[in-house]
This record gives sequence, C-alpha cells and structure tokens, in this order.
Amino acid sequence: MANKWSATALFDRLSHVSLGGSTCLYSLETCEKMVPLINEILELKERQDAIILAHSYVSPEILVTVADAVGDSYELSLKAKQATEKTIVFAAVKFMGETAKLLNPEKQVLIPSQKNGCSLADSITQSQVKQLRSEYPDHTFVCYINTTAEVKAECDVCVTSSNVTQIVSQIDNDKIYFLPDRLMGQNLVNELAEKGVKKEVKYWDGTCYVHEDYDPELVAYIRQKHPKAAIVSHPECSESVVALSDYVGSTSQMMNYVKEHEADQYFLLTECGLTSRLQTEVPNKQFIGSCSMCKYMKSNTLDGILQTLKEPESAININIDQRIQKKARSCIDAMFDYNQPIKR
Ligand code: 13P
Ligand code: SF4
Repeated sequence: MANKWSATALFDRLSHVSLGGSTCLYSLETCEKMVPLINEILELKERQDAIILAHSYVSPEILVTVADAVGDSYELSLKAKQATEKTIVFAAVKFMGETAKLLNPEKQVLIPSQKNGCSLADSITQSQVKQLRSEYPDHTFVCYINTTAEVKAECDVCVTSSNVTQIVSQIDNDKIYFLPDRLMGQNLVNELAEKGVKKEVKYWDGTCYVHEDYDPELVAYIRQKHPKAAIVSHPECSESVVALSDYVGSTSQMMNYVKEHEADQYFLLTECGLTSRLQTEVPNKQFIGSCSMCKYMKSNTLDGILQTLKEPESAININIDQRIQKKARSCIDAMFDYNQPIKR
C-alpha cells in the first residue's frame, strides 16, 4: 500500500522553491489541492504496475511525490532499461519516451503531455540525415539523445550531455558529424581541442530555445553583482557563455557540482526546474539569477499523470516502427557500449 502525502508534509518539502526571487511558489492551500491527486496517482501506479520517470526540469510537485526516478536524460535511459514494471509513464518530452520504448519494446510507454516537443529534436528530420550521410559518406554520425527515433535510426552512435566529449574522443574516425545542436557542437570542438583530441567536427544548426537565450552579458552582470556565486552552465548554452562559467555539465552533473562545491551561492544557466529541484534538496544553498522555462517539460502536470493512469488511451502511447526500432536501438546500444558496458 503506497504511503500517503499530507498537505503539511508537501508544503514542508516545497517551501524553499522560488523562481528568481525569494517568495515561495507554493502555499499550504495549493498543497491541499494537490495532495488528493498525488495520493490517487500513488495508488493507481501501484495497482497498474507502472513506474513514473521524470526529468529534473518538470515541476517540483511531481519530482518530490510521484516520480520513482528523477534524473538527466542518460540516467533516465538507464532507469528505463532496468525497469521491471509493465508500464512506463514518462513525465518529460517525447524523444525521452521514445528512448524508453526503444529500450523496452515489449512495455507500454505513455507520455502524459500532449505538448511534448523539443526545439532540438524538432530541428532535423530523418530525410535530412539521409541527405547529410550522402554528402559526408566518410563521417561517423553522432546524434544527441534529443532526437527522434527516426533520426537515431540513421546515426551511428547516440550521446547525451553527460558523455558527448568522452564518446566522441573514443570514436575511431577523425571525421565526425554531430547533430542536431550547433551550440553543443561548438562546445564539443573546444573541449576536444582542450584535450588535444584531433577531429574534424561538422554540426547541424539546431538549438535549444531555452539555453540559447542566455548571453555572456547576463553572465558578466551576475559575476559583477555576485562575485562569490559559482556560475554553472549546460553545454546547450553558447560557447561564449560556457567560457565564462565555473563548471559545465549535464543537468545531473550540474546538480552534483552544486551539492559537492563549497560556494553558498549559485547561478545555474539551464531550465529553472533544476534550480527548483536543488532548492528542495539543498535548502541551505542560495540560487540567484533569472528563470528560463521549457514550455514542453513544464506541460507535464499532476492532472495529466493521473489522467494517463486512469485512461491510458487518452495519453500518447509510444509506438515505433519495427525497422526504425532495430536501427535506432543499435545507435543507443553503441552509446552504452562506449560509455560503460552494462548487462543487456
Ligand atoms: P540532460 O541530458 O542534461 O538531461 O539534458 C536534456 C535536455 O533536454 C536539456 O535541455
Ligand atoms: Fe528540448 Fe530545450 Fe526543452 Fe531540453 S530544455 S527539452 S533541449 S526544448
């Protein structure tokens, strides 16, 4: 029988969450309204043998209550690979649900939100990759996990923000085509040069609309206003922002940096769900700066998750064509092989 939440316990967990300013986003009243939904989700999840995976960018009331696993895209793909439940409910965006389905073709994978795109995944199509492959036949095609299953099916190896440099460094070809993120591609070129790895890297022109918005002037302003703050950015930010940062990493790497670093103040240049998550997990540290939200990640709600469990047919049920499934799966498996071989 699932443990039940009370409004006071929930308010206690969320009382440090603020966006930008210092005012708590949650009141006891909002928590009172959320608790019946949360408890119903917990009960249904157990009854229907479902696991809920949630990316760190979704709303904190989902992360702290109903999610069985919270993480970055690499960690969540590992969780999806290890899941034993019949159904995976993925509170994130569609490409992450597709990755879960590629790893678990026999399971039902449901996405609670109808607005589940991603400006990176939507920036390139399968036929564009086919065209690029004919233009660059000698290149190894490396795709960021933020791509559709069809795009993965045309690529050689998938990477995430936590392993891109490490994997590209190991590829036995000095000609790489990286897609779809131009900014991450430029950061990759710089990191490889710093490590003394010689590769010719071409890249596609996609961007994450959330991360590309950060500019070096804002970072310089924060640096001047808060000289003691550690500035931490995601590799989807521009190279000029990355150059001014104290640390660059995937969402989970940023989170670990904050937890382990001695500074009291942080400015996180990423979707502000990560800041909200850290406000619940390390309430003694202070987070400054503006808040940028991903409209796709934030369209996941408790209502949507409850509806998905009550009426699975109302949710997006991920289905992948068999031929795409086989090719895209080997692109993802290549990542696990490069990264850290785990039992299949
Ligand atoms: P992570 O790989 O850090 O989870 O990033 C995914 C993402 O969509 C960032 O915008
Ligand atoms: Fe895509 Fe950017 Fe949203 Fe991440 S934050 S899901 S890259 S649009």
